Order: sequence, then structure tokens, then C-alpha cells
Amino acid sequence: MDDSATLWHGRFGGDPADALRALNDSLPFDRRMFREDIAGSRAHATMLAAVGLITGEERDALCAALDTVEAEMAGGAFVAAPGDEDIHTAVERRVTEITPAGAKLHTGRSRNDQVAADLRLWTRSALDDVARAVLGVQRTLLSRATDAGEARLPGYTHLQQAQPVLLAHHLLAHGWALARDVERLAEARGRADVSPLGAGALAGSSLPLDPERTAAELGFASVFENSLDAVADRDFVVDALYALAVLGVHLSRVGEELVVWSSSEFGFVELDDAYATGSSMMPQKKNPDVAELARAKAGRLIGHLTGLLATLKGLPLAYAKDLQEDKEPLFDAVDTTLLTLSALDGLLSTARFNTGRMADAAASPYSSATDMAEWLVGRGTPFREAHAAVGELVRRSLAGEGSLAELAAADDRLGPEAAALLEPGASATRRNTRGAGGPEAVAAQLERFRERIETDAARLG
Ligand code: ARG
Repeated sequence: MDDSATLWHGRFGGDPADALRALNDSLPFDRRMFREDIAGSRAHATMLAAVGLITGEERDALCAALDTVEAEMAGGAFVAAPGDEDIHTAVERRVTEITPAGAKLHTGRSRNDQVAADLRLWTRSALDDVARAVLGVQRTLLSRATDAGEARLPGYTHLQQAQPVLLAHHLLAHGWALARDVERLAEARGRADVSPLGAGALAGSSLPLDPERTAAELGFASVFENSLDAVADRDFVVDALYALAVLGVHLSRVGEELVVWSSSEFGFVELDDAYATGSSMMPQKKNPDVAELARAKAGRLIGHLTGLLATLKGLPLAYAKDLQEDKEPLFDAVDTTLLTLSALDGLLSTARFNTGRMADAAASPYSSATDMAEWLVGRGTPFREAHAAVGELVRRSLAGEGSLAELAAADDRLGPEAAALLEPGASATRRNTRGAGGPEAVAAQLERFRERIETDAARLG
């Protein structure tokens, strides 16, 4: 046996089986954490020197070797050796080839605290990237909402026309859901922002390590409290996957609306050719694939969340190799989310809203029935009675006795002033309490939404 083949060769009498390697090795996917792994090692070496476990020269030699390995990995010059089972092994093996001080790098450290630290660092910055991409979509919604002016469309409940609202109001509804996603991503980031370094394999160390110092070097907000928990905990990955799954659900709802709105039956939106696809057989087709995939990706994101929860369930303390299964779902969830956000942003910024079709759909007098009831309330009628009175007119109108406006104008409780509420566009302008769908309320909302985006963007830097 080539005695440099594995980190743990000392105790073993033969080579690992190929099938073990294929199943066990994580380098093919965890190599994307090489920068985090190297940053962690730099911080660890700096701490080891500060507490006197290595000399200043050894620290400098380690840091220089880590710089070299980082450059090799970033530039594609790095060649993995057969024994490089994961990114931690690969970096340490290469550092040790470069400097004999490499043999001291793993002092007071285990891959168990190391991998947790790497993944926490990776998660922290990935969640910031996702949050920035979400802000991009929010900015698109803001600009589309601003440009939409007083365009109106039916608001729906049960996908049945309910009350007309401004198009801007509808677009901003998605924008506020995304604002909660930005908040949720920040909360998940906070969960990841705890250093596990110093926990060792599971029990801490007999060496005079300084976990606070390593944490500070890496910019972690705090340090682990319990070494067993530190190496066993993947809650931060679950939190990240949850935040991404909820975001995915929100994007799926945007996607679904664009699918519906772009149908010929609705005709509320025409998708730009660059963001639509055709049919291989039916020449007339223009399909909303981006919106459909935005709808579908949520399933995959939810799958990653539930999959990891199932992996974690029942695991004994502290580390078990099962925990290696945390990375692929997280990486895929982040990649999937960034891809979806970018395509959906393009779709939203280029779509042409057919505001004429929307206004026609919003012109049904029945969708202003509530306004007529509220008009009666304004004149002292208890709401229940007003509701019944207008409901009766709706029933008579649907039965063919006349238009709702005619019946309202002729009704002695209502009359022409109330009937005028049924004019197309009239009712959409009347709801202006905080957060409502009318123009004054929406103007204030647009301002608050803009401020919210600016605050979040400033925090993300
Ligand atoms: N590749 C491993 C993982 O992702 C690193 C930790 C390995 N630790 C161990 N004791 N085998 O979890």
C-alpha cells in the first residue's frame, strides 16, 4: 500500500475498495468550497501561531503554501491525487508537498469541525448572493409597477374576478413576498454565522486552542457552545434550504400567474420572444417555459429541504458520514434558485402587459358590487343589509332584468350616484386605505417598497 494514499492509512492494512472510494469521496462536489477551506486553514494556522503551537515561520510557510494551493485550484492547475477524498484532504496533502510545516496544519483540528466551518462560510456568502439576486427581481417589479401607472386589472379570489386593483398593486404583492424572502435569507445567514472551529472531532482539544480567535479571523459572529453540537449541527443548512424552498414557492406563484396571463384566454401579457419557446410540431405556439420551470423548480427545492431533514432525523451525536449528504442538496438549491431568479427577472423585465385586455376584464360591473354596498354603508345602512340589497340587484341583473347600472340607478336606496360607481375604472380608484389597491395607496406603497429595497441593498453591501 502506498502509505500516502489516505489520511488514515496508519491503522489500515490494505487499499480502500474502488466502490468505497466512489461512494465515499466528496471531492467531486465539495471542491467548490476550496476558498472557504483555505480561508479556514489560514485562520487556523494564524491561531496556532498565536497560542504558540507553531512558530511564526511555520505560520508564514503554511499561509504561503495555502496561497499557492488557492491559486492552483482557482486557475485549474491543481491535480487531485488518488487519496484526495475530499477538499480538506486535497488541500492539506498539497500544502504538505509544498512545505514540511504542512504536517502541523491539522493540529487541534478535525475534518469534522473543518467541514462544518467551510460549509458555514460557503452558506453565508451563497445566501447573500441569492438575496442580491432577489433584490434584482424586486427592482424589476418596482420599475414595472412604476411604469404601470394607473393600469388596472381584476383582482381575483378563487381565480374568479373579485375587485379591480391597479396592476402596480398586483406586481408589488409579489415584491413584498420577496421582501420576506430577503429577510428569511438573512435569518438563515445568521444561523450559519457561528464558528465550529475548535470543536475538533467531537470533544474539543487538550491543546491550548483559541476558538474565539479563529472565529474572529473568519468574521464569524459567534463561537460554538458545545463541541458535540458544533460538529453534529446542520440546522443552518436546513434553515437555508427552508428559506430557498419558500422563495421557490413564491417564484412558482409568479410563474403560475405568467402562465395564466399569457394564455390566449387571458391575454394579459405577451412574453418576449427571447423568453418564450416554440413547439416542434405546432407552428403557432409560443410557450411560457421559463414561467413553467419557475413553477416547477419549487418542487425540487422542497425536495432538498425534506430530503436533508430525512437524512438528519435520528442521527446519533456527533458526526456521522451521513452529514456529507448536506452539501449536494444545498449547492443544487442555491444554483437552481440563482438560475430561476435570473431567468424570471429577464421574463418580467421584457414582458409586454396588455393593459387594454386587463382593463376590459376589470370593467365588469359586478366586480364593483362591493363598492356599491360600501357606498350604502357610507350613508348609514348596516353592511349586512347593504350586501343583501346589492346582492339582490346582481341576481336580478343576471336573471336578465337589466344591467346592474340600470337597476342600481332605478333603485330608491341607490340611484344614479351609486350607479356611477360601476363605470369602468371608477371603483379601482376608491380603495386608498393603507396597503389598498387604489392609486393613492399604491403610490405610498411604491415609496415604502423602494425604501425597503434600498435598506436591504445597503445591508447586503
Ligand atoms: N467529506 C466529509 C464531509 O463532507 C468531511 C468530514 C469527514 N470526517 C470524517 N470523520 N470522515 O462530511
